Amino acid sequence: MAQEYRLILKHADTPGYTADLDCYLRHGGYEVLKKALALRPKTLSDGKTLSGPEQIREEVKISGLRGRGGAGFSCGLKWSFVDRKSGKPIYLICNADESEPGTFKDRQILYKDPHQMIEGMIVACYANDVHLAYIYLRGEFVEGAKILNRALAEARARNYLGKNILGAGYDLEIHVHRGAGAYICGEETGLLESLEGKRAYPRIKPPYFPAVLGLYLCPTIVNNVETLCAVKHIVGMGASEFSKLGTTNNTGTRIVSLSGHVKRPGYYEVEVGKATIGELINDPAFGGGLREGRKLKAVVPGGSSAKVFKAGEKFKIKRRGPDGREIEQEVDMLDLPYDFDTLMAAGSMSGSGAIIVMDDSTDIVEALANIAEFYAHESCGQCTPCREGSLWMSKALHRLTHGEGRKADADYLIKIADNIPGGRTICAFGEACAWPVQSFVAKFKDDFVAKGAADEARRAAPVEADESNTRTPIGATCHRNHLREGGRQSCVRTEDHARPGHREADSHDHDSGLRHGQGGGAALLLPPEAAGGGQLPDVPGRVWDTRHWPEPQAPPEPGWHAED
Ligand SMILES: Cc1cc2nc3c(=O)[nH]c(=O)nc-3n(C[C@H](O)[C@H](O)[C@H](O)COP(=O)(O)O)c2cc1C
Ligand code: SF4
Repeated sequence: MAQEYRLILKHADTPGYTADLDCYLRHGGYEVLKKALALRPKTLSDGKTLSGPEQIREEVKISGLRGRGGAGFSCGLKWSFVDRKSGKPIYLICNADESEPGTFKDRQILYKDPHQMIEGMIVACYANDVHLAYIYLRGEFVEGAKILNRALAEARARNYLGKNILGAGYDLEIHVHRGAGAYICGEETGLLESLEGKRAYPRIKPPYFPAVLGLYLCPTIVNNVETLCAVKHIVGMGASEFSKLGTTNNTGTRIVSLSGHVKRPGYYEVEVGKATIGELINDPAFGGGLREGRKLKAVVPGGSSAKVFKAGEKFKIKRRGPDGREIEQEVDMLDLPYDFDTLMAAGSMSGSGAIIVMDDSTDIVEALANIAEFYAHESCGQCTPCREGSLWMSKALHRLTHGEGRKADADYLIKIADNIPGGRTICAFGEACAWPVQSFVAKFKDDFVAKGAADEARRAAPVEADESNTRTPIGATCHRNHLREGGRQSCVRTEDHARPGHREADSHDHDSGLRHGQGGGAALLLPPEAAGGGQLPDVPGRVWDTRHWPEPQAPPEPGWHAED
């Protein structure tokens, strides 16, 4: 039976363990840093000599550590891309933005064991010849910023940071930078723009690979909080010991954020690939199973961007048999080992390590509408497919969840989602907003079609000409069959609807629905048959609540000046 294996969270929840430096030192803190700084040059059998920092970089590569921020990219390989010959300073940034819905693991480290992360950062900085580093912290972590700044001050006071660290002749400063609460700031190039004081617009790659053209166009390493903690343990225990944890190509431990309809939601550290999705959901050591009387409906395995798994879904995966030979086996979704490669082979990803469990009480259309609304809100707006597509998907899902759906909405959603990813956008947000829609609709199509069909049937039914039937409370969404340019539309009821004699067949003065400056390029998203006429498709539900728009201002009096 799978069990927790606490490496990074070893002390975090121990009674009496606190975030201050003295407590960290009592538990062996900063010993790894001392070990790293004391590494002497080593001559290899081929006569090549490796400096201390080079040895650390090599260890990280051998350890097989993969980034814990989302993409699961090899940390050692990423470090090897750093341009060390440019003559420019090299920066390191700890990505502590943690905004992927469902994810709540980095904050456990930041709040409960900040010195562990700082030590990991210092070791990583030493290994990469970095003298200035930043912690890019999610804006909402107000208390986290205080904890980190206090921890950094403590580390400075004891010379674990600053000039000539522990007499080793190495200088390093680390600053905390708080974001302002946008999800896109977690994307590494958006993060760099934000850190430079600009709007977090992701940069196009190539040429802006951070390892070459990062912060202030200097070589930059961006690593997740958990990844940097793992670096500390790799140097502490050695790459070979570290890589004994986990499974081949999926080494070390991983902190899984488990949420949704389980009895024991929470964060659990496990050896990568040593627990299956089913064990994480059902075992008493982890989620403890679903709520009483409920059946599993769906699992999102790696944060909201990951493609959903349907209960009962089967996958063919390759496994090593008792004789060491590789065999292909059909396994249930619940039997998939929770690791990077298996989940990718199953068409999804372990992403940020966040498992969201949905039982049969979940309205899957509502669940997707919720996710899509998040992405429509968080798109930075630079790329038309992402900006318009995320909004259109959200609007279509909004109408499906507000009684205005159509049977054809399922196909419509897929059409939009299919036209966003695949190199059409600057950053991976395009994929992140399309994958949930593609997978939810494909795997639960009946739910979407049934909702749309029920709405269509209801709208087609004869409507009683009863005056009271036209009354929707002011401010509430009105789902009556208003006529607008031949389409049916829901709208937010204003005084207009309260007018005596207002009938549902009355037309209303809805605005066009396009955001200012956001109408261009929409044809990119359209299916070929619709794109030719230059017409925007009718997107019922694309209604803007104009109630909060500023009233037009009266022109200033003649002779009035701003200075007055
Ligand atoms: C839209 C978007 C949001 C992201 N948010 C985060 C985040 O909050 N934290 C994080 O560590 N990585 C996030 N990432 C991944 C980062 O771009 C980057 O790959 C990661 O910080 C690298 O660290 P790692 O190699 O240690 O995983 C995000 C990526 C995208 C596309
Ligand atoms: S894909 Fe979306 S979030 Fe990323 S740069 Fe383009 S518009 Fe912005």
